Amino acid sequence: MADPRPLAWPPAPIRTERLVLRESQARDRATVIELSASPEVNAYLGGPRPRAELERALPEVPGQRRGWFVVERDGAMIGTVQLKPHAPDGPANCRLEAGDTELGYLFLPQAWGHGYATEACTAALDWFADALPGEPVVLYTQTANAGSMRLAEKLGFTEVERFEAWGAEQWFGVWSSPTPSG
Ligand SMILES: CC(C)(COP(=O)(O)OP(=O)(O)OC[C@H]1O[C@@H](n2cnc3c(N)ncnc32)[C@H](O)[C@@H]1OP(=O)(O)O)[C@@H](O)C(=O)NCCC(=O)NCCS
Repeated sequence: MADPRPLAWPPAPIRTERLVLRESQARDRATVIELSASPEVNAYLGGPRPRAELERALPEVPGQRRGWFVVERDGAMIGTVQLKPHAPDGPANCRLEAGDTELGYLFLPQAWGHGYATEACTAALDWFADALPGEPVVLYTQTANAGSMRLAEKLGFTEVERFEAWGAEQWFGVWSSPTPSG
């Protein structure tokens, strides 16, 4: 789907205390395949995709879309954070609407438990709030995905509703950038 948002892309790389967020490059392809083929990463995302299929289907530079950040630590990709327009073919039984900006995050299992996802998502949300002030961000995740639920809470998402989709309970939350005081 065409991205209707007036978002300037790509931004200059965003540096946090330990990470860099930047647009994707050809050298990230192997890690993108790793993320999609990992049973652990995809445990609550419909399961892993076959590596051979990914090798065939993925473009030379994967993730060339507005709001699709590679997260790098010490020069190596450890995950991705995405602020993407919600696709029109999403679940129908909830208040998600096509075009809503949706946060997604995937990190390699060896990068879990260090606070990297929190650090990267916070930086991406700050960037988004600067780029499109006042524009909300939505998120949905399986309620069984404890790490993701915990992350959503730490980032300041608040629950809108829960709904059933893909045979599991989903949590739907929204985040709004802090309004400037005064
Ligand atoms: C969801 C996911 C990104 C969460 O990753 P994570 O590493 O658990 O996320 P966090 O950044 O919140 O870090 C977790 C822990 O690191 C710990 N940590 C260690 N060092 C830290 C530091 N320096 N700073 C902050 N936290 C630190 C914290 O204790 C934190 O746990 P707590 O919040 O319970 O205290 C990860 O599990 C994942 O990629 N899952 C697969 C993909 C997926 O399901 N995505 C959801 C799509 S909707």
